[in-house]
Amino acid sequence: MLFFLLSSLSTCSCPSSLQSFNDNNNGGGALDEVDRKERISATKEDIEWIKDQIQANGLHMQDNILRKGINPRTRAQQLQDLIQFKGISHYEGPESENHTALPCPGELLVEEHHSNYGEPWAGGRDVFEFLAESSHLSPNSRVLEIGCGTLRVGLHFIHYLCPEHYHCLERDELSLMSAFRYELPSQGLLQKRPLIVRGEDMDFAKFGSRVVYDLIYASAVFLHMPGKLVWVGLERLVSKLKPYDGRIFMSHNMKFCSRLGGEECTKRLTSLGLEYLGKHTHDSLLFNHYEIWFEFRRSKA
Ligand SMILES: C[S@@+](CC[C@H](N)C(=O)[O-])C[C@H]1O[C@@H](n2cnc3c(N)ncnc32)[C@H](O)[C@@H]1O
Repeated sequence: MLFFLLSSLSTCSCPSSLQSFNDNNNGGGALDEVDRKERISATKEDIEWIKDQIQANGLHMQDNILRKGINPRTRAQQLQDLIQFKGISHYEGPESENHTALPCPGELLVEEHHSNYGEPWAGGRDVFEFLAESSHLSPNSRVLEIGCGTLRVGLHFIHYLCPEHYHCLERDELSLMSAFRYELPSQGLLQKRPLIVRGEDMDFAKFGSRVVYDLIYASAVFLHMPGKLVWVGLERLVSKLKPYDGRIFMSHNMKFCSRLGGEECTKRLTSLGLEYLGKHTHDSLLFNHYEIWFEFRRSKA
């Protein structure tokens, strides 16, 4: 009994590679037990299943009336209620502060930070699925995110990876607050011990000198950074990327390089020991949106 309980708690007992999914599955047919465990994104069968559930419950893919609940509130009203009434049941008096281990600011409790960067929060799952499957990730892999923001993407990696295997460098205080004071505790991810470090200079010293990553990614980050800083970062990261199999992915554009001109861009990447592998797009599961990604690997050991 104890064995079953412990093994169900550990994601690290999962198979160590997505490779056999990619080799065996052509997108059709029923997945056997092993494929199911290794797959990250929804299968055609999963999508058919949820569509059947929607239909069986008298709902439609479009045209439903989204009737509001018994006490509809915007985020701003919810926050006001929290400040004014402190929720339905709450402690009063001098002891009132002693019952909450991690008191969280109201703005985070009403999830204002889910709208911080404009993109729908659900898109974080799309990014995770694309990157994890493209880089053949396993729970044992090590991942570094540059600019993880409010963990829109990162929390899916933290859920999936073994404890301590997710690292992030982020400069913004509000984003770090959202991550530490709301997302990690509210998602039950404290035991995953992600290493999230405050910084803006592409200084990776705090992540240790010996760590080697299977995946390094920047989702909607490099386009906001001065090109010079992106080059500094890449130069420092090359030796931290697993030779050949490790991948760097960055989204939106690679203007830091392309604005130098094709030949010069390739020359500079080569001089760092990086090879550009190509441009990819992937579609969102939930909304009409696709994201563009640029993939790199080490060209020398
Ligand atoms: C558009 S947000 C994207 C956040 C997250 N990656 C996502 O997809 O939801 C860009 C993030 O990059 C961070 N960022 C920008 N420049 C940075 C730098 N020099 N070092 C670390 N983080 C940086 C910002 O603080 C912000 O959290």
